[in-house]
Amino acid sequence: MESAAETIQRIFGDARSSVGAEMAETTTHYERLQKIEFPRPSSTRYIAVANQKGGVGKTSTTVNIAAALAQAGARILLIDMDPQGNASTALGAQHNSGDVSVYDVLEGRRGIEDVRQRCAEFPSLDVVPSSIDLSGAELEVANLDERTYLLKHALDSFLAQSEDHYDYVFVDCPPSLGLLVINAMCAVTEMLIPIQAEYYALEGLGQLIHTIGLVQKHYNSSLLVSTMLVTMFDKRTLLSREVYEQVKKHYPNIVLDTTIPRTVKISEAPSFGQSVISYDPRGIGAVAYVEAALEIAQRSPTVLAAIELKQGEN
Ligand SMILES: Nc1ncnc2c1ncn2[C@@H]1O[C@H](COP(=O)(O)OP(=O)(O)OP(=O)(O)O)[C@@H](O)[C@H]1O
Ligand SMILES: [Mg+2]
Repeated sequence: MESAAETIQRIFGDARSSVGAEMAETTTHYERLQKIEFPRPSSTRYIAVANQKGGVGKTSTTVNIAAALAQAGARILLIDMDPQGNASTALGAQHNSGDVSVYDVLEGRRGIEDVRQRCAEFPSLDVVPSSIDLSGAELEVANLDERTYLLKHALDSFLAQSEDHYDYVFVDCPPSLGLLVINAMCAVTEMLIPIQAEYYALEGLGQLIHTIGLVQKHYNSSLLVSTMLVTMFDKRTLLSREVYEQVKKHYPNIVLDTTIPRTVKISEAPSFGQSVISYDPRGIGAVAYVEAALEIAQRSPTVLAAIELKQGEN
């Protein structure tokens, strides 16, 4: 029987039609990815998605990588550490002001088990929602001795008593280098840095790497910058390709081969309380995020070994 890719190729023509070629290519990718088994990490991976620059694709990346991995069978806990609550919105989690949220977790009133919500679209994905109340937390906890470890302690005590095993714990960070982000960096072993393919992309990256260095030195010596992902990539522009080459040159083993294209479907999905993985599963945005998730899954043995090595050194 004719495959979907062949049908598209037949209708839209051969490679001389760029639209047809692109659709056929995406469909072929989609079909290939459906058949691939995603390896599960041998132990939990703890990943904070951070970049103090606003609007670079942190939340889209957290939500869609988590959704893609959940779809492939992994158990995921996603913690929204941004008072904007965009990840909570995108996954359809209830997060009005006054609702229990990560705010109550950080301030010790609730445990993660009390506030986590199961994502309606993906039953193996649990969300710890944030709410606008979280914006007060940085000031409210500023004088506590343990202020950088509030999330870590909550996560450790939740996981110690939870019967659920998670393959991945993701933390979506706000666009800052404040206490909420430091809490995320102290609670995880890996940083995933989304980098927007635009002119100022690398500006600010030095500051972020410097801050991560300080956290490694003072609070969490096993923290590893494991992954960078170039987002909003436009393959027609030289600029996008240049940004990718620059990042690749500086961080050759960290940046994923997959880039996330700029596509309206990725920006539309949250308004339906959905990830792009379920909103437009065969589109270029979803396919790219699934491909990136596969790369992340396939790198688990290398990344976990590197973290273990760091932990052994301490
Ligand atoms: N690949 C993409 N193509 C098109 N639009 C995108 C893409 N990725 C993200 N967007 C849109 O760009 C905006 C910023 O993305 P997102 O919210 O993921 O970034 P962020 O880094 O989490 O932002 P913030 O710093 O505010 O937390 C959103 O409107 C989002 O829908
Ligand atoms: Mg965000």
